[in-house]
Amino acid sequence: MSTISEAIVKDHRELEQYYNEVINSNDHDHQQRFGNQFTWELARHSVGEELVVYPAMEKHMGSKGHDMAESDRSEHHKVKLLLKEFQNMKSSDPKYTYKIKEIWGLLSQHIKEEEQNDLPALEESLKAQPNLSESMATSFGRTKAFVPSRSHPSAGEHPPFETVMGLLTAPVDHVADIFRKFPNQTVSPNPSTK
Ligand SMILES: [Fe+2]
Ligand SMILES: [Fe+2]
Repeated sequence: MSTISEAIVKDHRELEQYYNEVINSNDHDHQQRFGNQFTWELARHSVGEELVVYPAMEKHMGSKGHDMAESDRSEHHKVKLLLKEFQNMKSSDPKYTYKIKEIWGLLSQHIKEEEQNDLPALEESLKAQPNLSESMATSFGRTKAFVPSRSHPSAGEHPPFETVMGLLTAPVDHVADIFRKFPNQTVSPNPSTK
């Protein structure tokens, strides 16, 4: 059983891998598949954190947790606005690589803060309750299965509004995912089928 930090870090490494696949390739088809995979993973990862991780910071870490969560939400919002532009671009667009690099500039900084400051502080505050971090990892995994797979910055970052918007937009996203190209090794990019 993994902790919530381990689940989050695993996602971060996957995102980095998909990003590298896009920027290190000249093959538009390859770039489109991994660009779509990046969008899909980042949209779900962000909403998963907003539903499971940031509320837990507020619940278990007092005012420090509240400030941390608010700062993380505002960083997510900036990334989502860029992701919304990127997700509608074709990899043949000369600005395709530029746009994902712009996203990665903000995102890599945010990831670093989460891994170096936020997650260790959260784990420390969860310590007193056995298995809480592990059960949060399970919730995070489940949440990612039904949240939107595209960026919807207008939905906001605060639950429960995000939850409601997520449920409204998710089925539409998942239908559209069927017609999008993904890396060949992806078994099913459509979480709504699970
Ligand atoms: Fe985040
Ligand atoms: Fe994250």
